[in-house]
Formats: sequence, C-alpha cells, structure tokens
Amino acid sequence: MAKRYIPEPFRIKMVERIKMLTREERIEKIKEAKYNLFNLRAEDVYIDLLTDSGTNAMSDEQWSGVMKGDEAYAGGKSYFRLVEAGRDIFGYEFIQPVHQGRGAEKVLFPTKLSEGKVAISNMFFDTTRAHVELAGARAIDCVVEEAKDPTHRAPFKGNMDVEKFEKLVNEHEGKVGLVVMTITNNSAGGQPVSVENMRAVSEVCKRYNIPLCIDAARFAENAHFVKEREEEFKNSSLKEITREMFSYADMFIMSAKKDAITNMGGLIGIKDDANLYQLVKGNCISYEGFITYGGLSGRDLEALAIGLYEGLDEEYLNYRVGQLEYLASILDDNEIAYQAPVGGHGLFVDAKKMFPHIPYNEFPGQALAVELYIEAGIRTCDIGSYMLGNDPDTGEQLQADFEFTRLAVARRVYTQAHFDIMAEALIAIKDRAKDVKGYKITWEPPILRHFQASLEPIE
Ligand code: F0G
Repeated sequence: MAKRYIPEPFRIKMVERIKMLTREERIEKIKEAKYNLFNLRAEDVYIDLLTDSGTNAMSDEQWSGVMKGDEAYAGGKSYFRLVEAGRDIFGYEFIQPVHQGRGAEKVLFPTKLSEGKVAISNMFFDTTRAHVELAGARAIDCVVEEAKDPTHRAPFKGNMDVEKFEKLVNEHEGKVGLVVMTITNNSAGGQPVSVENMRAVSEVCKRYNIPLCIDAARFAENAHFVKEREEEFKNSSLKEITREMFSYADMFIMSAKKDAITNMGGLIGIKDDANLYQLVKGNCISYEGFITYGGLSGRDLEALAIGLYEGLDEEYLNYRVGQLEYLASILDDNEIAYQAPVGGHGLFVDAKKMFPHIPYNEFPGQALAVELYIEAGIRTCDIGSYMLGNDPDTGEQLQADFEFTRLAVARRVYTQAHFDIMAEALIAIKDRAKDVKGYKITWEPPILRHFQASLEPIE
C-alpha cells in the first residue's frame, strides 16, 4: 500500500506557470532535440527531473538575504558571513567559495593529481571523474558490492568497499594522489555513506598518508540517513553528525546547488592545511575570481550562507526524503524496480529490468528517459553506460554497473500530485515496455558526452 505523503513544512508564496504539450508535440520536440533531453527547451517540459542541481526554490529568508548581498570586489560582508557559516557547520578553518562544484574540482584537484596518479572514490560523479582525467590522472570507483544489485535493500549502499580499497592502494603503491568520498553517493542512486565507513576509509588513508576529500554536494541528506539508520547517531543533531563526518577528512569540495538549496554556488573546505589553502587561493584567483567572491555575486554568497542551515533542517529533510519514499512505495505496489531503498535526491529506476531486451550499448536508461518525456512531459536523465562514456585510453564503450534513469527532485518545488503523475507515467511505460527500442549515438564529443551527444532510435 502506498505510504502516506508527508505534507510540505512550508506554504507557497510565488508560483511559476508550467504547461503540458500534446503527445504529438512532445514526439516532435524530442526528435528535434536528437533524443538528448539536455537539448530540450525547459518550457517544453512539464515536470523537470533532469537534476536537483540549482533547480531549488529559495526561501523568503534567502530572498531577503539576496537584497543584503554585499557586491564589493574584495572583503565583502557576505563573504565573511559565508565563511562563518562554513566553519560553524563543518568545523574546517578555510572555506573558499567557487561558482559551482566543478569549479571546486578544477581548483583543488590539480594540487593533488597529475599524470601517472590515480584517485579512488566510492564513486565519482561524471564531472568529478572528468576533472581527475583533466588533471592527467585516472579515476577508480570502489563502491560496496551490494550497491550493484538494485533490489537488494541495505542501509548504506553508498559506502566504499574498504577491503577492496586497501588492495587498490597497494596495487597503485605511491600513486594514489587523492581519495574522494561522495556523500551521498549520487551515481549509485543517492545512497548514503555511514560514519563508520568514513572512519574506516580515513584510517586506511592515514596509514598510507593519502589525503581524503569529501564530495559534499548532498551532505545534509546523508546526515539525515545516518541519523535514521546508524544506531550510534539516533540522538544526534544533523549538525553534530555533519561535524563528525567531516572530522575524518582533510578537505571537501561541494556543489552548493544541491543541499544548500541555492541556484548557484560551490565551496572548497580545507580542515587546517594552510599551504594547501595558499595553492587553492592562487588557482581560485586564476580560474574563478578573487578569493572573497570566487565567481559568485555577493547576493549568491548571502543566499548560500543561509541555505546551508536550511538544508540541515530536520523537518524539511523528513518531508523531502518522504516525497521519494511515497513515490517508491507506489512503484513497489506495481513491481517497478529501482535502486532500493530509495535515495535522498532522486529515484533511480532500474532500466535494465524494465527493458531486458535493450543491451547496455543501446542505452536502456536513455531509452526510458525519452519514453518518460513522450508519456508525460517528464524530463529525466540516464545514469548508466550512456553517461559513463568511453574508456579514455582505448576509446571503447564502457559498461556501467547499473543502467538507471534518474528522477532527480528539485527541493521545495513539486507537490504530491506531481509525484502521482510520475508514478502513473512509469506504470504506463512498463505496460508497453517490450515495444521500446534502444538508441545509437550519431555524434559525440570526447568528454562528458551525454550533455551534448546526438542519438537516434535503433529501428
Ligand atoms: N559532485 C556531485 C556528487 C554532483 O552530483 C555534482 C553535480 C557535482 C559534483 C558537480 O557540481 O554541477 O555544481 O558543477 N551534479 C549534478 C547532478 C549536475 O545532476 O547530479 P556542479
């Protein structure tokens, strides 16, 4: 039976109109977009689940902060307010704003990675992997085995496989430049990482003298799951859990467009290494902008400082994760498989299971994304072999561990009726699944291809 929908702990003060095209119009639009959903115009989308990044609704508090933003080039008030918030929440000495997550990757990674080095992660996100490669190094994923079986329910499917991780460290002796723990683990389905796992990874890193970095885009959702699922923390506040989690790492990168509930922004945090901070400041000035604005407007810095706290609000997180649990429970009733239990920022439908007749190199996750648009004007994305792309050394198509279609949910944006439409669309597609065809790529760029590639259905 469907789970109860947890009511929104806010009311709506401003609205944005959305419209539904006809099915025929949508078939035409997606063809014009070369079957790449990034090519669609947003106004032709009814429910936009392409990403939870930068699509959030800011609060009245954040919008009043916008009016107070200090636009000074150097030393503005909003910068100091943000640094104070970052120090308070994460317990790190140095907080550097940047324009978004990949700005943080570009500024930080070359200080630790170069030709011949490797970086190991529970799982890299696509841009994070790209920046490891752009720095000349190679990226290796090392997630726990249980993450690879979508129907196997486990509390922390985002964890690093610690045993395998230590083996990799030995195999690449002296070459591991950085370890990155992605919390929550986006590519594995928004799955959380336990504090216990972070402790174990940190212990290995210390023994081998390897720096440990957190990719913190969804740190607050991760803290919510730790509180719910890790006995030791059931009475801790989410801020206490965050502090504890970050105490095991040396640095973090963060796309603040997610859990900090803003539309733009990013952060780098460095626990205490003043030399590293000096390198980061240098790169930041070259690539992002002066230290005290890092590619953002003063008003963005202000909204971000406020959003960091709002993102950690327990009532809000119960509602947010509750929305996804509601959708997941309807899919359970209809035997539609997804990465279970459902993650923090999205529901990842198991497209391999939905379309067993479509092989990985014909991109089942992308096929389902196209169908969701045709069915109900819902825009999603592939998190599978289509996104993973080709081996940078051989050019061969890589096979991903999963073939997911991600329904990523913007924060404080959609209501229960929208979730019902998502469920109905998936049920309708399941009923005609055997008629859905795979895709081939007709053009692709060398890196991060899924943003730009052109595709065509295989007849
Ligand atoms: N790390 C993770 C775990 C992410 O999910 C993202 C972005 C980034 C880094 C890069 O941050 O976009 O601010 O430059 N993820 C978005 C997504 C785009 O849709 O999952 P960015």
